[in-house]
Amino acid sequence: MAPMLDVRQLTVSYGGVRAVDGISLTVQPGEIVSIVGMNGAGKTSILNAISGMVPPDSGEIAFEGESIGGLPAHAVVARGIVQVPEGRLIFGTLSVEENLRVAAHKRSGFMLRSRDRPHLRQLFPTLTDKLERPAAGLSGGEAQMLALARGLESEPRLLLLDEPSLGLSPKLSHGVFDLIRQLRDQGLTMLLVEQNLRRALTVADRAYVLESGRITLQGPASELMLDDRLVSNYLGVSLPETPTSD
Ligand SMILES: Nc1ncnc2c1ncn2[C@@H]1O[C@H](COP(=O)(O)OP(=O)(O)O)[C@@H](O)[C@H]1O
Ligand SMILES: [Mg+2]
Repeated sequence: MAPMLDVRQLTVSYGGVRAVDGISLTVQPGEIVSIVGMNGAGKTSILNAISGMVPPDSGEIAFEGESIGGLPAHAVVARGIVQVPEGRLIFGTLSVEENLRVAAHKRSGFMLRSRDRPHLRQLFPTLTDKLERPAAGLSGGEAQMLALARGLESEPRLLLLDEPSLGLSPKLSHGVFDLIRQLRDQGLTMLLVEQNLRRALTVADRAYVLESGRITLQGPASELMLDDRLVSNYLGVSLPETPTSD
């Protein structure tokens, strides 16, 4: 099957300093693909290059068989690639409903019928009770849900998620990942950027490990999950020692 997203030898630099150093990755229709890496690895830069927020230095980005590398952000959204940015940028002074409507005007006409409220209610029960309230009053978890809901209002063909669980309690991030799973079950394709290795591998079909702008490991999430080296070396996290009995 032809990949939905095909990124080849992508390089991104800021003022001559290379943040993304020739990475290649693919996303197939219906997949959740994760890019895992520590802070500063270059994850957001990859998403921003795909969504047209940052111009790539070099490399190819193809979406559904057509080159999108270097297109402005509005042109990329029009093709159906929607990014939910890191830090869940929502408009605090607008109501929840207004935040959703801001996104609805740039629909590319696809996918999730989040337009019908029963659907929205099912996915975001706590949000639909607060549609009239200012978004500034939402909790961290609700704000993330709103950022996600707003992304869906644009009816993406491919959703780019940048650290959706950042700053959330384990319970709330569990809720966010449950939602991501539900969306996948409805057929949404996602590229998910995460620092949280375990969560990413639990939800993703495949993953790429990014270190200092380079992909150092890739494969099915189920295989990477069994890779002790990944946990111990690649992400610099040590496993708890196996208790020894004497
Ligand atoms: N706008 C920018 N200007 C200069 N340097 C940047 C900019 N954005 C990111 N960087 C640098 O690029 C590297 C990768 O950053 P980023 O893509 O945000 O990584 P991640 O999302 O994995 O934390 C970091 O060293 C960061 O400091
Ligand atoms: Mg980032």
